[in-house]
Amino acid sequence: MATLLKNGTLITASDTFQADILIEGETIRQIGKDLSHPNAEVIDAKGKLIMPGGIDPHTHFDLPMFGTVSSDDHYTGHKAAAFGGTTTVMDFVPLDSPLPAPFGGASRGEGQRGQGDFQYSVDQWMKKAEKAAIDYSFHMNLTDFNEKIAREIPFLMDMGITTLKVFTAYNGRLRIDDGSIFKALRIARDNGMLVMAHCENGDVIEALIPEALAAGNTSPEHHALTRPAPGAVEATLRLAAMAEEADAPVYIVHMNAGGEVDMLKYMRERGVKVMGETCPQYLFFTIGHLRRPDGAKWICSPPMRTEKDNSRLWEGLSEGIVQTVGTDHCPFFFDGTKPIVYEGSEITIPGKELGKDDFTKIPNGLPGIQDRMPVLWTYGVGAGRITPNQFVAYMSTNPAKIFGMYPRKGALVPGAEADIVIWDPQKKVRYGVAHSHQRTDYNLYEGWELTGYPDKVFLRGKLIVDGSEWKGSRGGGRFIKRGRGEIL
Ligand code: URP
Ligand code: ZN
Ligand code: ZN
Repeated sequence: MATLLKNGTLITASDTFQADILIEGETIRQIGKDLSHPNAEVIDAKGKLIMPGGIDPHTHFDLPMFGTVSSDDHYTGHKAAAFGGTTTVMDFVPLDSPLPAPFGGASRGEGQRGQGDFQYSVDQWMKKAEKAAIDYSFHMNLTDFNEKIAREIPFLMDMGITTLKVFTAYNGRLRIDDGSIFKALRIARDNGMLVMAHCENGDVIEALIPEALAAGNTSPEHHALTRPAPGAVEATLRLAAMAEEADAPVYIVHMNAGGEVDMLKYMRERGVKVMGETCPQYLFFTIGHLRRPDGAKWICSPPMRTEKDNSRLWEGLSEGIVQTVGTDHCPFFFDGTKPIVYEGSEITIPGKELGKDDFTKIPNGLPGIQDRMPVLWTYGVGAGRITPNQFVAYMSTNPAKIFGMYPRKGALVPGAEADIVIWDPQKKVRYGVAHSHQRTDYNLYEGWELTGYPDKVFLRGKLIVDGSEWKGSRGGGRFIKRGRGEIL
């Protein structure tokens, strides 16, 4: 099977140029002027932009939390991703164990902690992901640490899992102490792995939450007020300092506070191998959104900050201090008592209403996987905040490099897998829940006017999105065993 994309404008992380692309089977065979092929299907991409498929480095599908589960699974979330131009996702595997707590794991990161088992945890997640519709990879949550776990970390490399997420918050549940994080950084360094860090001050949060509740401060804004920005800034500096001490790389996930950009800049200028990811929600929204009557829609951790933080994060992208934009896609229904229709069937999943009287019971997380590329195109590239090449770098090429998939993914070069988006820069969309395939009852960008949207999306040479038509399939996605990544 061959496909010839004619007359498009290719956008890569470094260049913009006119060329044709010949796809044969699953890969890009040739890129050049005036290509021909005796029996390829020809697609005229005149006036369109051609980019490598997006890579979302941060998702949570089918994740049990707060007595419910994130409402997109490894099929519905993948489908939504594809409609937004994303062809590879990286999901976090909770560290679990076949044995019940306290002897074993604690049901995917909740409740009392026990000794996790990597193989068991990955097997569980592999089973959930059998319905994958786009390509996917896993990060491992390192939410427990002891000598046995330390010995087993390097074997994750054999599974193609080269990344570990650590938490400086969620005391007693997901957090491990700083000494264990330091040891994990050294193990990662010695094995070509990368530690990813959730940076907040868990001790301060645990002090503030009971005070807020005791004072009757139970509304969504108190979620943000009990997780203050200086804790995120300090934890980012702390992780970068530990990375320096361990001579290891570290990647700060979901950067949300302007001060984190300052810390990243400072430590990168010192030569520390620290990289960072922000998410669209931290570029556009503030604690003001949590004060709205429907403020629970914006509850995630870390929380929304201020407009000043939004601006500094944009600067982090435009100045190249921050390397990637992920979504932290972890959707819940706003009102999980009312069904929505998804692929012709009604579905109801308990959601944010679980915490209507107590912000600590609101499931943490937001939808965003389909929104990421279209929203960043219009309000990033279109608004002149980032260039089209930076867009491709942050959306695709940098995650491919950092997470050990480049140039198989994230590149428009002969030999790369033909994950390709044909982007219509003129297409106007009034965006919102009706337009989105994310399986939830709301969209954070409701009513936003977009200019520029994916027209066709190819996964390894197969057309999976054609305008508004879904041509992908359950099980059409493939697990990507990753190698050693680059430090950007
Ligand atoms: O609220 C969020 N972000 N939920 C997902 C878990 C995490 O820390 O990324
Ligand atoms: Zn996190
Ligand atoms: Zn996350």
